[in-house]
Amino acid sequence: MSRSKTPPPNPASGLRKGLTSYGDNEFSLFLRKAFIKGAGYTDTALDRPVIGIADTGSAYNPCHGNMPMLLEALKRGIMLAGGLPMEFPTISVHESFAFPTSMYLRNLMSMDTEEMIRAQPMDAVVLVGGCDKTVPAQLMAAASAGIPAIELITGSMLTGSHRGDRVGACTDCRRYWARYRAAEIDAQEIVDVNDQLVASVGTCSVMGTASTMACVAEALGMTVPGGATPPAVTADRMRIAEQTGAQAVWLARQQLTVDRILTPDAFHNALRVLLAIGGSTNGIVHLAAIAGRLGLDLDLDALDRMGRETPVLLDLKPSGQHYMEDFHKAGGMACLLRELAPLLRLDALTVTGRTLGEEIAAAAPAHRQDVVKPRTDPIYPQGAIAVLRGNLAPGGAIIKQSAADAGLMEHEGRAVVFEDAADLAARIDRDDLDVEPDDMLVLKNIGPKGAPGMPEAGYIPIPRKLAQRGVKDMVRISDGRMSGTAFGTIVLHVTPESAIGGPLALVENGDRIRLSVARRELDLLVPQAELERRRQQHPCVAPTAERGYKKLFLDSVTQADRGVDFDFLRAAHTRGSIPD
Ligand code: FES
Ligand code: MG
Repeated sequence: MSRSKTPPPNPASGLRKGLTSYGDNEFSLFLRKAFIKGAGYTDTALDRPVIGIADTGSAYNPCHGNMPMLLEALKRGIMLAGGLPMEFPTISVHESFAFPTSMYLRNLMSMDTEEMIRAQPMDAVVLVGGCDKTVPAQLMAAASAGIPAIELITGSMLTGSHRGDRVGACTDCRRYWARYRAAEIDAQEIVDVNDQLVASVGTCSVMGTASTMACVAEALGMTVPGGATPPAVTADRMRIAEQTGAQAVWLARQQLTVDRILTPDAFHNALRVLLAIGGSTNGIVHLAAIAGRLGLDLDLDALDRMGRETPVLLDLKPSGQHYMEDFHKAGGMACLLRELAPLLRLDALTVTGRTLGEEIAAAAPAHRQDVVKPRTDPIYPQGAIAVLRGNLAPGGAIIKQSAADAGLMEHEGRAVVFEDAADLAARIDRDDLDVEPDDMLVLKNIGPKGAPGMPEAGYIPIPRKLAQRGVKDMVRISDGRMSGTAFGTIVLHVTPESAIGGPLALVENGDRIRLSVARRELDLLVPQAELERRRQQHPCVAPTAERGYKKLFLDSVTQADRGVDFDFLRAAHTRGSIPD
């Protein structure tokens, strides 16, 4: 048994941070040490930079199913660099297992993570996330908590194979399900492909929200270089984990806080990358929320201007052909950033202490590949996402034009209206639904307060009777979101939402709507006097709740342009906006 001796007090010791208030700080530290020693720690171990690890492993989250191996590699990296790893659990949210929708819980996860970072002694924190809402929740938390922080991405799943067809969640989930709905494949085939769509643990293998936020986290400078793309089950991913651990210790020693990394230039770079990768529209909402935590506004018009000059370079589903593992083999983010460099703010600082420009220069040289296109031969000449305005969306709406049908981008049609998600589910497949291929499907009440939680119901299915006639795309309009893995001519995030009396609430069956992506317009072609009459006849009653998290949510949630964050979680003062 080793003799315990009292080490000289080390003012830098992370264990002294945020001492519990017993009115006697030395006694508080004495107690804290006594308890941690109950787990077998020595004084020597405790006299190191303490690196907190937000562990989001959960049986309900297969996207984080590599967590045990990741944590081992991460802790190895921390200890090799002279730190003390301290893991702690937080909420973990998976897309398919969170009712009513994962977005409803993102802010709760960010509050949990922020408060646990504040409450527990640590000199830096490693946030381990991957599935769609986890990385945004963690970056929002880190931005608010303000200590040195670094993100470790869990990594993407492998692709599977179904009867010779390469498949991956979840673009191919939707493709096969649409074929099944159209009676192109039978019940046995839909069962068979279900085994193949998610071939391993890890996040969705296409450019959905998880992959988008992984790339965005690296573009923000919040991961080690190359941290976005290694698949979850690879040696490369474990090496990234080990490096992340070592980098966290360096961040703790330097006290390089997150506000020095998450600058307006960093957000500029993140938006550029989001546009160039054909990223998920959800990424815009999440970036607005993260920026809001630092007092920065996301200006949608600036985003649109950036979109006009940012080509889509990454050939990944759903905009293109490949999967995340192909992007990784092609060189990952270094390859993309090098191509995009003229459009980036290269002086932005990253968690390595070097600038983004220095990291691009230091990356492995380019090799022959066909996943990241040159700027001279893009997948799509303009940015993936366009911002629309008009009397139907005075606060803006967005369309992912790179995943839309080119023939529908200039379109006028008759509205076929569904009052909410339940109405849609009840009527969309009925044979007597009055709908033609040229109509525009309108879904109300799936915004931040409407559903609540702004579910990904904006990907309105093609009515069965039209799908069976071979109709693959129609203009669809809602105040909700859609999965980053989805595709179609789909107008999303209509702001203000219908549940709080936005103009979308006033649309009736048979109204004419005009969409012009070229002019960035979305208009309801109904006279203003008639809209006023409808408003008087059906006054808006905003949703409320009696108690609990739902009450907090409905009382506090902001609109899409503010990131669907809670109003009280934004920074108290606005410091500026993200430059284009
Ligand atoms: Fe987790 Fe797609 S469900 S990343
Ligand atoms: Mg998703």
